[in-house]
Order: sequence, then structure tokens, then C-alpha cells
Amino acid sequence: MNIPRHFLDIKDLSTEDLRDILDRGLAYKRGEAPDGIEKPLAGKSIALVFEKPSTRTRVSFEAGIHQLGGQAIVLEPSGTQLGRGETIADTARVLSRYVDGIMIRTTLVEKLLELADYASVPVINGLTDRTHPCQMMADLMTFEERRGPIAGKRVTWVGDGNNMAATWVHAAVRFGFELWLTCPKGLEPGKKLLKWAQDEGGAVHVTAAVDEAVSGAHCVVTDTWISMGDDVGDSEHRRRLLSPYQVNADTMAKASPDAIFLHCLPAYRGKEVTAEVIDGPQSAVWDEAENRLHAQKGILTWCLRC
Ligand code: CP
Ligand code: NVA
Repeated sequence: MNIPRHFLDIKDLSTEDLRDILDRGLAYKRGEAPDGIEKPLAGKSIALVFEKPSTRTRVSFEAGIHQLGGQAIVLEPSGTQLGRGETIADTARVLSRYVDGIMIRTTLVEKLLELADYASVPVINGLTDRTHPCQMMADLMTFEERRGPIAGKRVTWVGDGNNMAATWVHAAVRFGFELWLTCPKGLEPGKKLLKWAQDEGGAVHVTAAVDEAVSGAHCVVTDTWISMGDDVGDSEHRRRLLSPYQVNADTMAKASPDAIFLHCLPAYRGKEVTAEVIDGPQSAVWDEAENRLHAQKGILTWCLRC
């Protein structure tokens, strides 16, 4: 039996494999069939497990699997035995007897890792509390389409040091770009992650000073101030902490004149970003959302070796 090729985190894959996935995704976007196979998922089924809400991840996976000739089976805990306490391990072993791959969006990274440990088919991380690597592949694709190779460029994350921020740290290391994270004190990415980046030789910098971080950036990225599952306590306090980190016209004016703006969406205009920026000429968010479809075709065919 083949050892399943999981897509759990950017940091777990080599740069070569990540490039292979992106190249496949771009080929699908151009309407080409990598390796000449038009419907690589013909006769195959993929389970899509959602423990949190989703628009993009659900629809881009469902549509993408259909376009590749396969079948998507969406599972939500309330409608399965997971919701009644069946273990992740048992679910992994059972689903592996029916389907050819499992995508999961889950509350805790430990559940993703348990699923991957017990599944005998590839497991894809569709977002956890820690990371969102499918989104990252779409973000990389979007940046490179607009501005060429990302290696050596400067990317600035502004706002909450959440699961997307952590995924940008992984990507900075694997793709060799400079990453600045500007977050309020107490909302920076975890020390362990930053130490990993440092040990790997990554150019990752953290500062509370927005101007220093954004100066000369080729890409400015932000995300919601409250992620799914966050226990924020006093939400007014959090809003006050994050308000200076709103991406607005002043922020973009400090970046490189050709900087693009990215946001994984859903966005909250007037909070983490102004309408002027997200709906303005530097915003690449609609291409970014579209690229989920293409990048995930790369991920699926890489994982399933087809
Ligand atoms: N960006 C993203 O993953 O969106 P959804 O939560 O809608 O899937
Ligand atoms: N950080 C956000 C990303 C949503 C796609 C969340 O986890 O809710």
C-alpha cells in the first residue's frame, strides 16, 4: 500500500513539491491537462468534512472535484456520527474504505493530525485553528500572476496574528520571501512558530509598528479581526487593540506603489480593511478567491498522484 500523500501544512512539504502543486494548478487554470489526463478524478470520490462554516472552500472544492471528473461528498458533523461522538480515528478508518481522499476543515489542529494518522487515503487541511494552507497556495498563485516570482519580495501581514498569519510564516520560509508581521502586542504569532522560521533561516520580522512593517511592501495582507472559533472575551477591547492595524489608503500609501492587497475573505469593510482598499485598484481579492479553485486542483491531483 502507498503511504498517503497528505497536504497538511506548507511547512511539511518541500519547495519542489509546492512548486509542482502550483504548476499543476496554473496548468488547469490555462485549460491544460497536466500529464494529458482530462478527468484525473474520474471514478474517484473525495469527502469534504466541515466542522466550521465555509463558502469558498466548500464551493471551490466541490466545483473543482466535479470539473476533474470526481464526486464530492460533503459531511457536516450535525449530520454524521462525528456529531454524536464517534472518534476521528474511527471516522478516518471508515471513510478510507469508501473514498479516495478527505478534506477537513476543523476546530483543532490535533483533529486534523489524528485524521491523517488513521486515514489510509490522503488528507487535505481545509483550515484549522492554526493554519490554512489551501488558501496560501491560492495567495502565492495570485501574487506571482501579478508580480512575478515571490522569492526576494517583501510581504507585510497587518492585524491579528491568526491562522493565516502563521501560514504566511510557513510560506515565507519555503518560498524565500521577506515577511513582516505587524500585530498588536499580545496578538503576534506564537513564539514556537517564529523560532521555527528563524531556525529555518527565514526572513520573518515581527513589529507592532505598522509604518516600519508596511514601508516598501510588495504585498499587503490582512484578515478578519475575529476568526471562527476565537474566544475573544471583551470584543470592544479587541477592536480597540486592532483599530490601528486597519488597512486603509494611508497604509497602502506607505507600501511600494505597485503593491497588491490580499485578503482570504470573508472581509469586514470598515474593520480590518476599508472599502476603498478592498474594492480599489490594488486589490487582487477576486482573483485570489478564484485561484482557490485552480490551486486546489493542483493539491488534489498531487495528493492522489493522478
Ligand atoms: N477563505 C476561505 O477559506 O473562505 P471560506 O471560509 O468561505 O471557505
Ligand atoms: N482567519 C479566518 C480565516 C477564514 C477563512 C478564520 O479562521 O476564521
